[in-house]
Amino acid sequence: MSHAPAQPLRLSAHRPLTGRVTVPGDKSISHRALMLSALAVGESRVEGLLEGEDVLATAAAMRAMGATIARSEDGRWTIHGVGVGGLLQPQAALDMGNSGTSTRLLMGLVASHAVIATFTGDASLSKRPMGRVIEPLSKMGAAFTASPGAKNSQTLPLMVRGLVPAVPIEYRLPVASAQVKSAVLLAGLNTPGITRVIEPVPTRDHSERMLRGFGAELTVEEAGGERIISITGEAELKPQHIVVPGDPSSAGFPVVAALIVPGSDIVVENVGLNPTRAGLYQVLRAMGADITFEKERLVGGEPVADLRVKASTLSGIEPDPSVVPSMVDEFPILFVACALAQGRSVLRGLEELRVKESDRIAVMAEGLRAIGAAVEEVEDGLIIDGTGGERLAGGATVATHLDHRIAMSFAVASLACRAPVTVDDRAPIATSFPIFIPMMEGLGAEHSEGATA
Ligand code: S3P
Repeated sequence: MSHAPAQPLRLSAHRPLTGRVTVPGDKSISHRALMLSALAVGESRVEGLLEGEDVLATAAAMRAMGATIARSEDGRWTIHGVGVGGLLQPQAALDMGNSGTSTRLLMGLVASHAVIATFTGDASLSKRPMGRVIEPLSKMGAAFTASPGAKNSQTLPLMVRGLVPAVPIEYRLPVASAQVKSAVLLAGLNTPGITRVIEPVPTRDHSERMLRGFGAELTVEEAGGERIISITGEAELKPQHIVVPGDPSSAGFPVVAALIVPGSDIVVENVGLNPTRAGLYQVLRAMGADITFEKERLVGGEPVADLRVKASTLSGIEPDPSVVPSMVDEFPILFVACALAQGRSVLRGLEELRVKESDRIAVMAEGLRAIGAAVEEVEDGLIIDGTGGERLAGGATVATHLDHRIAMSFAVASLACRAPVTVDDRAPIATSFPIFIPMMEGLGAEHSEGATA
């Protein structure tokens, strides 16, 4: 991420949103496609890769550890992998930028390779908890060292020394986290024997699907509501051709925009609807959102549809906390929908939101209040009394705290405000959705850079 002065952003809508747009590739799948391709022997090809800063950080790290990764002019990526066990010693620190997924998954890979890697990140990532991967990966034999004099030994920068051969473990996830699950499974790839993760609450299963697709021996058993995932190392991965579906988390922004701008009627094409990711659409429909799934199909082994979305009168909701893992990144934009819905929404069980790119409970509460919404912050969520479709006052400047989803959520909220909201910095949007602003303009929103900061 650049250290240039903050670039404010204002979006407004003077007419209904209309048209068809395609969302960029799924961030979670893009990271995994690069990592597994870099560990296969031979040439893999990836189409539809998200070319956001987070994924480019993963690409740079895999190159630094020996993979050859190239992008052709038509946007296809080609990766020559080094083989499981073949990662090379990086010559410099691995800069993970803003990306928690790159950091935690790559720590898993390094943990069982003969590699010593130092991970660094931006101010947001350097505050995020790494203890959740340090704990299982240390049990597998990896050693983690903080910088001399560091106040916290569980945040970046951290040096990781892998162990070969690593020790297989059986690990029950203490938090519902696909990143922790994936870190352990990726470490298991180069660990002799069976590494097992027990998941009390299902989280996104892209790692499991893709590891199998690359030929790893991986089984998933369901017992008493838990998922037991076992991977056999030392695996040999065969190169693949991967087509990355559109990101359902990114699609949430144009979808909610169309729901809250009166008269809108749009289609968002190519949206991945893996059941472990599609909670937002379930909840919005339960609130009364007019969303139809068109042309349902499979892309790269994942269910995908085009979403037709019409402006809707929404009702407040109290989602069951069991839906949280399938929409953990979508709460900021759901809060915006709730702020404009009829009646009260009670959104609880969201403690994980406090350790995302920002404390998304506190930051959303503060911003929503600043633009005139009625919001009460509780330890594990927000209670929001919606306007019933009346526009919010807007007018305020909101702080994004290096968090792409906060920036996009308030850019969308601005479309339903009497005076536009100034998002203090649009730069973080490039981590996951580099075409967000032109896409919103394509639907009819107007964009201005706002006052200089
Ligand atoms: C991700 C898992 C989630 C999610 C993140 C991407 C992944 O994080 O918030 O944006 O690709 O595995 P947690 O595992 O911390 O819930």
